Amino acid sequence: MKTVYNTDININNVGENVTLYGWVMKKRDLGGLVFIDLRDRSGIIQLTVRPENANYELASSLKNEYVIKVTGKVVERENKNTKIATGEIEIDVEELELLNKSEEIPFSLEDNTNALEDTRLKYRYLDLRRNEIKDKILTRSKVTMAVREYLDQNSFLEVETPILCKSTPEGARDYLVPSRVNKGKFYALPQSPQIFKQLLMVGGIEKYFQIAKCFRDEDLRADRQPEFTQIDIEMSFVEENDVMTLAEGLVAYVWKKIKNIDVELPLMRLPYVDAINLYGSDKPDLRFDMKINEISDVFKNTEFGVFKTVLEENGIINAIVVKNAADKYSRKDLDKLTDYVKTYKASGLAYLKFNEEISGSIAKVVTETEIEDLKNTLNIEDNDLVLIVSGKKEIVKTSLGALRCKVARDNGLIDNSTYKMLWVTDFPSFEWSEEEGRYMSCHHPFTSPKDEDVDKLINDKANCYSKAYDIVINGYEAGGGSIRIHDQEVQQKMFEALELTPEEIKDKFGFFVDALKYGTPPHGGLAFGLDRMVMLLTNTENIRDVIAFPKTASASCLMSECPNDVAEKQLRDLSIKVTE
Ligand code: AMO
Repeated sequence: MKTVYNTDININNVGENVTLYGWVMKKRDLGGLVFIDLRDRSGIIQLTVRPENANYELASSLKNEYVIKVTGKVVERENKNTKIATGEIEIDVEELELLNKSEEIPFSLEDNTNALEDTRLKYRYLDLRRNEIKDKILTRSKVTMAVREYLDQNSFLEVETPILCKSTPEGARDYLVPSRVNKGKFYALPQSPQIFKQLLMVGGIEKYFQIAKCFRDEDLRADRQPEFTQIDIEMSFVEENDVMTLAEGLVAYVWKKIKNIDVELPLMRLPYVDAINLYGSDKPDLRFDMKINEISDVFKNTEFGVFKTVLEENGIINAIVVKNAADKYSRKDLDKLTDYVKTYKASGLAYLKFNEEISGSIAKVVTETEIEDLKNTLNIEDNDLVLIVSGKKEIVKTSLGALRCKVARDNGLIDNSTYKMLWVTDFPSFEWSEEEGRYMSCHHPFTSPKDEDVDKLINDKANCYSKAYDIVINGYEAGGGSIRIHDQEVQQKMFEALELTPEEIKDKFGFFVDALKYGTPPHGGLAFGLDRMVMLLTNTENIRDVIAFPKTASASCLMSECPNDVAEKQLRDLSIKVTE
């Protein structure tokens, strides 16, 4: 069995004999001396094979990715390589054994490989040999270990919940699995263990966690996968603050272990309403400031048609200030920003450049008083650029929120080496669905409303807020959860608010509503997106980089070529007929 890893060896081992196993990363034949870079999980070490060695011929014939075993003496190198951990030493090979050959590999495994991602995904088992991917998988393993340590220290039990289950209420489309035994019936794969973890609280487990696989058939993005992993947590006898304290403690524990970073606790807590007003997002990136400013008042007497109409129609006028950037933006650049906000449904983008002379798209229609007001409200300095969107509140906030991030990225205002974490709290209970023509749960139907808002469940849904919280790191929603409803009557009201009929309630959650009747403790919890946490810790924006065998944007696996057709007989067994 292999007992020593390449990077276990260093200058202190000079003179010792070692046995190493690994892959040939590179071989160089330098006039009588063969140099081999031997790679294993830990890194690379240099081997030298001398002409007088009985294995010299074999060494000369080795090709990339051949698997070998060597025994030799650790010697100090003449030409040290400071770039690698083992750069001060090399192994003077005595014995060499070829354990396996390899075909020529389809792409380079060097750090700066130029292989397309599709090729890397097709040969993912080779891609995993590359430092870039391997290091992330290593970090992922360390994160899950640290999570287990922390939660174990805090008296949590790790409990598994079913994968074949009844549809869960997270709001995405389910992946369905047909039942052979119960013909025509289906299991759903869990979108999260939400109902089961609450039932574990009814079951008296009190503190639960699970590194849980979740499945959601939804449109994929750079930070979304159809199957992903949650660090799922639930606790009894707690209030919002208890869950947030426990969860931010977990983040601090992990960040210290993995990055040796001290996270300052408690994290900032920002109510949802303020997050939207100030940053135009419920997952604000606080690595830069550039808040959204309310400037409707400045224009209360405006004669400028666009703003006037917006204000008459109860819309708003908001702005962001890009400091010291007026001279950086050409007309063309600003046209591009205008197109950008239009993708967020804004009708346009107005701008002002505050140089000695004030210029910009609305320079001719703003009065001197308005300019003075703007200068005061926005603390304008020389060469500031002001970007303005007017219209319906939601559109103004969302488009300026997105613009704020784009401008920060374009101007290099984001320090990628820092982490800015916060809680966004007090989410609305409901959001209006244009598609469905009714209010839907913002989180899920078991999220408790604020005590003072219980009555609003039925008659003032737009102003009903909940005991829900998200943890946001560098603009990513890293996790989210809530205090749950444990009172049957409130739960009933919630179902009513969601316009679920008694039949629908019974059909969807009957067993769960029954369980609530048997002494359910007050409880709450949250789930972190493990993949997203590892993305943040390994500085990648591509969720596929942190998953050993990920799916593509079209939810398929290029390596195993799934999903795929199945045999006619399998379908017959399941009484399923595929129509075109
Ligand atoms: P939620 O749906 O907010 O909450 O999910 C929790 C966290 O999981 C991550 N996440 C994803 N990561 C990758 N791909 C996806 N498709 C994906 N969807 C979600 C996010 C998110 O914050 N049951 C509740 C939790 C609770 O209330 O306790 C739930 O699933 O980081």
